Amino acid sequence: MEGYGKEILLSRDKIQKRVRELALDISRDYQGKEPILIGILNGVIFFFTDLIRNMTIPVKLDFIRAASYGSGTASSGVIRFSKDVEIDIQGQDVIVVEDIVDTGLTLSKIKESLEKKGPASVKICVLIDKRERRETEITIDYYGFHVEEGFIVGYGLDFNEQYRHLPDIFVLKEKESPT
Ligand code: IMP
Repeated sequence: MEGYGKEILLSRDKIQKRVRELALDISRDYQGKEPILIGILNGVIFFFTDLIRNMTIPVKLDFIRAASYGSGTASSGVIRFSKDVEIDIQGQDVIVVEDIVDTGLTLSKIKESLEKKGPASVKICVLIDKRERRETEITIDYYGFHVEEGFIVGYGLDFNEQYRHLPDIFVLKEKESPT
């Protein structure tokens, strides 16, 4: 992307190690149960599949598609659901899996809408917890990494649909304009 450079933030090895730990934590906490993992498309794809592959308990899965971002890097605060959950979650343990939480608006809307369907429990698992711009109180039950600030790409995360394919995670840096 012209005008932006990228610096590595989390290597693929570091990501894989942490995702394995998270999968084991969740498996331990849900021992004897069969939670429904709901991935938030599109950014979650790599994290979701890596997480599930490392779990030691059976799980069911489904997806929601929600968009809160236009083409820039700041949250618009407007959330659209273009795909809702299809599996019946009533009386079930649900874990919402998301790539990154920033303002928290997307996840709180999603949690609110899932709770209306009468699940036994709803917990949240994110790969990256970015707290700089949090606008709503939301409990993150499981997180991979804390990041203070910046716009993060790679391992499923995009900027205008670019960089998703990268196996490592980078922070985008605006290039200094020549004077
Ligand atoms: P929130 O509603 O502000 O918490 O935004 C959550 C959504 O915004 C995530 O699912 C991402 O799609 C997107 N997002 C927020 N921060 C970043 C980032 O640093 N890189 C890429 N996408 C981001």
